[in-house]
Amino acid sequence: LYAPERTNSRGLDLADPDALSALDDALVRARERPWRATAVVGGREVGGPEREIRNPSDRRETIGLVREADAALVPEAFGLAADAQPAWDSSGGAARAERLDAAGEALEAAMPELAGLIVREGGRTLADAVAEVREAVDACRYYAARARREFAAPERLPGPTGESNELWLRGRGVFACISPWNFPVAIFTGQVAAALAAGNAVVAKPARQTPLAAAHVIRLLHGAGIPADVLHFLPGSGGRLGNALLADPRLAGVAFTGSTETAWTLQQRLAERRSAIVPLIAETGGQNALIADSSALAEQLVPDVIASAFDSAGQRCSALRVLFVQTDIADRVLDLLADAMGELTIGDPVRLSTDIGPVIDDDAVRALLPHDSRMRADARVLREMSLPPGTEHGSFFAPRVFELDRLDRLDREVFGPILHVIRYEGGALDRVIDAVNATGYGLTLGVHSRIESTWQRVRERARAGNVYVNRNMIGAVVGVQPFGGEGLSGTGPKAGGPHYLRRFAVERAVTVNT
Ligand code: SER
Repeated sequence: LYAPERTNSRGLDLADPDALSALDDALVRARERPWRATAVVGGREVGGPEREIRNPSDRRETIGLVREADAALVPEAFGLAADAQPAWDSSGGAARAERLDAAGEALEAAMPELAGLIVREGGRTLADAVAEVREAVDACRYYAARARREFAAPERLPGPTGESNELWLRGRGVFACISPWNFPVAIFTGQVAAALAAGNAVVAKPARQTPLAAAHVIRLLHGAGIPADVLHFLPGSGGRLGNALLADPRLAGVAFTGSTETAWTLQQRLAERRSAIVPLIAETGGQNALIADSSALAEQLVPDVIASAFDSAGQRCSALRVLFVQTDIADRVLDLLADAMGELTIGDPVRLSTDIGPVIDDDAVRALLPHDSRMRADARVLREMSLPPGTEHGSFFAPRVFELDRLDRLDREVFGPILHVIRYEGGALDRVIDAVNATGYGLTLGVHSRIESTWQRVRERARAGNVYVNRNMIGAVVGVQPFGGEGLSGTGPKAGGPHYLRRFAVERAVTVNT
């Protein structure tokens, strides 16, 4: 059903000594190599003010340098992109798919070095970094397959004798792709690959915190045959650069992943334009819940809670924020959870034994503190890990669990390793689902229950983009779990799903009276 003509990347098996030693070598090389990110406009590297990128696990270590793009570069990038886009669009879905398949090959071949860079620049664990590169490879291949299927030829529609009707999908023009730091390779690549597959030219702005990994992806994509005048790269911070991207009259669409607040700002900027009306494809945050009823198996539930809440130091938009647990099993589950957290290793993700790495930077630590203080006043601390020696020079935040009495004590998403727990009485399932819906977010939702009618009820009533039953709630796989939410969590369509590319395209109906 979902493009069976391609298969997902197998990644690296971290239990295989050869794969592990390739990764080790890449990590050593990544340490020795001075990584650089520079604006790339029309294939030309353009200098700008220099800034050091530090390792979030140890801020004393510089990983590389970014030369940030000035907003004055935006018109040049858009000009070249707008000139190149019609030919890229006319080349057709099959030709673009060939380039994207080559891009997927290039990313897969570079898996060890990309993973090494993700670990050191993004503070992600090795397993997460490998999974992330796989996701980027899968995105290239999946959107290539979709482009072949949807963009290579028009859909023929019925009509009276003597009339032919065709529906064409074509690129919109120049897309701005604005990506986050929590998946510096996968989301960056996914947005760009989708926009390109649908026949657009792209101006890509990576997150301020992770330009080095994104710059390496750009080098690989250009090397694989994505034309330099079709794909431009502008590293820098939101502010003036973001405003210039959104103000350019040649802008034809925006793909954005990040906070709900930033999505509102982007929407506002787009509304102020007096040029073409363009779509915003936004994937934002969540107040993601997991509901465990009294039939849940605690031994299965607890590892899924830990993975969902604390993997990537809780810095996934899919991450679990609130565990609703039925009172009958709550004490047992919470005891097991507290014990299991004692087994987690916090530290430098460059070590395979690390479960929890740093958050992205010191600002991210500071952003968690007011919420933490509020929870200490309003809620019960169920479990709090402590930071081990060796983490003092990094941006670490120890995982913790608070017990609350009501969901409305949480007003917004808290992006880090903080889990909240609320007990609920049997018979209150609908009220729990309604409370989760009432947050206005709708990204991921977990259910642990052996009772089929419970998860059918949740599936029916919950307004969430991705519902996971009796498993963890993270790591959506391209073409398998199309990913994205609704309401405050985003506009849809789902990344890695069969309807994604259409949002990057215009539809043109052509009627010929023969
Ligand atoms: N797609 C990621 C996940 O499923 C989140 O961005 O965890």
